[in-house]
Amino acid sequence: MVSSIVKMKEVSESLRKQNLTIGFVPTMGCLHEGHLKLIKRSLESCDQTVVSIFVNPTQFGPNEDLDSYPRQLESDIERLEATGVDILFHPSKEEMYPAGYKTYVQVQNISEHLCGKSRAGFFKGVTTVVLKLFNIVGPHNAFFGEKDWQQLAVIEALVEDLNLDVAIIRVPLVRESDGLAMSSRNRYLSSQERKTALSLSHSLQEAQNNIRRGTTSAKAISNSIRQYFLGKEGCEIDYISICDPESFKEKEQIRGRTLIALAVKVGPSRLIDNCIIEEF
Ligand code: PAF
Repeated sequence: MVSSIVKMKEVSESLRKQNLTIGFVPTMGCLHEGHLKLIKRSLESCDQTVVSIFVNPTQFGPNEDLDSYPRQLESDIERLEATGVDILFHPSKEEMYPAGYKTYVQVQNISEHLCGKSRAGFFKGVTTVVLKLFNIVGPHNAFFGEKDWQQLAVIEALVEDLNLDVAIIRVPLVRESDGLAMSSRNRYLSSQERKTALSLSHSLQEAQNNIRRGTTSAKAISNSIRQYFLGKEGCEIDYISICDPESFKEKEQIRGRTLIALAVKVGPSRLIDNCIIEEF
């Protein structure tokens, strides 16, 4: 495990000198099958795989779950070793944000919709830490999951606009066998809340069926999703967005490639899920 930035840079420089490709999977730990899928993609396609575990304080709002965010370093290390990961980068908060820290990067426009609207400062924190991690780890390829569809688009914009020398590899969303999108925050759920949480994937499935049957009105689809949560205890819809998957502009009619994205608070957890309606 590497905790110091200087050491991580030295390791990365030495790998690059040996012409080895570096794959990178940034995480906040509490690893699940979704993370392992990203890691496996890196292991398959790169010579060396670096995974970072860092619960990034700058992407949490003042009333969010930074303190209670699940942390389980020991079992994460065991999982990484068993999977064959080459290097774990696990810096402290002070290492990443020493006293007097003052620089942030922000992707405009697409960061302002969906999660950016309800979590002020979230994407600014994500892009700042991801840029820092890219500078420290120096990866050739970095792997991100499509569950965080908007985060992926924001990071792609960061890389393109700032001419970063890293390829962003998209990896499809991973679900539990009953359809629940994998997330570290699923651990907060009681068994009753977990049942309720299934409404996210079920309502998206129903939306896709309705669209296949010919519904094109975004409002009708959005209402049908909303209905799904009515009467379900402990549920609060943050947003239902039916939008362009690149610009995140809301659509009135479902024509062309469309993203349906949801954020719903279930008990203590804010959960997100999405699906893409391909052009038809
Ligand atoms: O998706 C996450 O786990 C985080 O937002 C990331 C990309 C590791 C940045 O802290």
